[in-house]
Order: sequence, then structure tokens, then C-alpha cells
Amino acid sequence: MTGGGQISPPPRLLMGPGPINADPRVLRAMSAQLVGQFDPSMTAYMAETSALYQDVFRTANDATVLVDGTARAGVEAALVSILAPGDGVLVPSFGRFGHLLVEIAQRCGAEVTTLEVPWGEVVPLERIEAALAEVRPKLVAIVQGDTSTTMCQPLDGLGDLCHAHGALLYADVTASLGGNTFEMDAWGLDAASAGLQKCLGGPSGSAPITLSPAAVEAISARSSVEAGLLDGDEQRPVDERIRSNYLDLGMILDYWGPRRLNHHTEATSMLFAARECARLLVDEGIDAAVERHRVNGGAMAAGLVALGMETFGDQRHRMHNVVAVHIPDGVDGDAVRAELLERFGIEIGTSFGPLHGKVWRIGTMGYNARPDAVLTTLAALEQVLRRAGFAVGAGAGVDAAIEHYGTGATE
Ligand SMILES: Cc1ncc(COP(=O)(O)O)c(C=O)c1O
Repeated sequence: MTGGGQISPPPRLLMGPGPINADPRVLRAMSAQLVGQFDPSMTAYMAETSALYQDVFRTANDATVLVDGTARAGVEAALVSILAPGDGVLVPSFGRFGHLLVEIAQRCGAEVTTLEVPWGEVVPLERIEAALAEVRPKLVAIVQGDTSTTMCQPLDGLGDLCHAHGALLYADVTASLGGNTFEMDAWGLDAASAGLQKCLGGPSGSAPITLSPAAVEAISARSSVEAGLLDGDEQRPVDERIRSNYLDLGMILDYWGPRRLNHHTEATSMLFAARECARLLVDEGIDAAVERHRVNGGAMAAGLVALGMETFGDQRHRMHNVVAVHIPDGVDGDAVRAELLERFGIEIGTSFGPLHGKVWRIGTMGYNARPDAVLTTLAALEQVLRRAGFAVGAGAGVDAAIEHYGTGATE
């Protein structure tokens, strides 16, 4: 007999920078019974999931699969599979997740050049172009939406710049995909990876990833077959192999592709979740989903400003799905978050690094990019702020958000 009883988490409205509440359709998909990993129904679900994510990423890449693990596993799979020790990589960085790209690339043994701008800004394409010309890297690795600062890096045009300088382009779109425009093929990206727990409306634990033919070629030049699976294949010398087995995208593509060469055991319930997340977006229409995030994120920002708070960062480049606001002077940021959680069951986000203790990050994404979730959060925050001694106009946040919805919601 074990203590504790059946799992029963408290009811929460998750309005931070992710994770958010999962869409009920995703939860239902996850409770489906398991099938064997080579069952025809399972391989059909894998093929269907790959096709669905081609729509979500807006790509014709056949090499569109899931990495089993949280979004960070997708980032690491892309970098470790493309970058051999000594390869050059340029990381334009504007927040915590740019630092993560640097850290992972360093662990791959790559020669990393970082191009940093202050938090709250994005990196101008001219600066990236100048660095490309100077560094001539094999890969440019960049984040699209960095939740640590809420900035959304413009990527349109970057693919052509990279290719003109002989570099591949990878983007971490974990926090932005589905809520902000992203065009894998039209923008010329070679690799992109995501997670489910932001605008896709699912739990963390699966990382959709897509690779252009050029990225597949770079990976194939390093990939190998496990000794126990050799069937007329030649193993690549150890020092030429991709430095991770679990995250070897060559092996993962062999597993998802026609050879069905066994690698890990596909995480069936997470595949069901990832498939349903993509179905939700495709059913809604990707453009409609992006617009829903823009409208609800805009209403949240308008409401917070009307409550007397100042937004952080260059608002022209704010992600649709998360806004940061300065914690008002004299207000204890952690105490406000704790009271929101305890009395109202609402979670908002704290912040990292240079912004720690200075801003709250409030998300409006995936299943929670809805007017009722926005209005409930603003109403509750008003009460908590008033109790914390911060003078707030009665109903000001809710009024401003309702007005924002009513005006067609241009920001
Ligand atoms: C841009 C970005 N990349 C990577 C991650 C890491 O994701 P995970 O925690 O699922 O590994 C996050 C999580 O917030 C993120 O926002």
C-alpha cells in the first residue's frame, strides 16, 4: 500500500510563460491505450503526425519528426547532430534561451561566436550579416521567441543571408510556434524545433523538429548505424559519429523513415499528444491561431497597462503570447504571485537573470489564449495589487481588455 492516493492536482489557470493548461482534446488523446511500436496503426500515426507538423511548421520537409523529450531535447538534437567538434556556429542572442544555444553548442565542441544585444531588444539582421561575413560559420543558431524577455526575433530574410554565406540556419521556435507567424520554407530555415507546452496546447515532453534536405545531408554525413542493427551497413568510425546516441537525428530519421530501424521506443502517449496538438492547430487554421494569440495577447497587455503597469522591452517586437511588465515600486513581486495562486488559483511567471525580481511575465497561449482567461487574470490581479497597496482604478484592466476586443484589437 502506498500513501498519497490517486494523483489530484489543484485546479489552476496557468497564465505564465508556459507550461499552460493542456487542451482537453490533448488530455483525452493521451489516455488512449498503447499499441506496439511497429503496429501498423502506430506507424500510420507516426506518418500522420509527421504530415501534420509539416503543416504547422509550413514546410515540405519529409524529415519532420518528434524527438522524445522536452523542447530542450529538440534543441540539443539539432545542434549535436549538425555540429561536429571544431565546427563554427554563430549565435545571435537576446535572452536566456540564446545563452542555452551557446551552452549546448559549446558542449558539442563547436567554435561558438555570440552576437549579443541587451535584453528587451532583438538582433538587427545587418549585424547578423556582418558577423556571418566575418565568422563564416557552418550554422547560425537563433531563438525566435525568447520567453525570458518576451521578444520575437524577425527571421524573414535570414535564411537567404545564411545561405549566401554558406551557413545553415536553425531556429528554436519552442515558445513562438503556433502563436506567431513562422514560415520554415518561405524564410529558408534548415532546422527548427519546438515543444508542446506553449502555443500548441499540450504538456511538455515531446519536441517536434523539422530538417531541410541540406540539414539532412549534413546530418547523414555524420550518422551511423548501431552495431546490433548492422545489415550490410558499415559503421562510421567513432570519432566521426554524432556525439549523442539518444539525440542522433540520423538514427531518429532511420526510425521514422521507411527503414523503421529501431532506435528508442517511441513515447506513444506523447506521440498521441503531439498529434492532437497539431490537429488542433490545423483544424483552427495556423493563421487563425496566430491571430487569436495576437488578439488575446494584445488584450492582456492593454489591461496590464490600464492597471498602471509599464511593459518591458521593445513592444514592436513583443511575442503575441507573452508580455512582461515591470513590478510596481514598493510591491513584493513574489508575494503577489503567491497570493494570486493561493486565493485565485492563477499562476503568472517570475523572471530570470538580469530581470529577476524586476518583471512579471504573463502568458496568453495555447488553450488559454481565450478572452475569459484574460479577463479573469486581470480581475484577480487587480484585487491582489490593491491588497498589496498599489492603487489601481476599479475595473480598469478588465475595461481596457474588453475595449481592446471591441476595437478589432489592433495594438
Ligand atoms: C525558447 C525556449 N527554448 C527552450 C525551452 C526549453 O524547453 P523545455 O523546458 O521544454 O525543455 C523553452 C522553455 O521555456 C523556451 O521557451
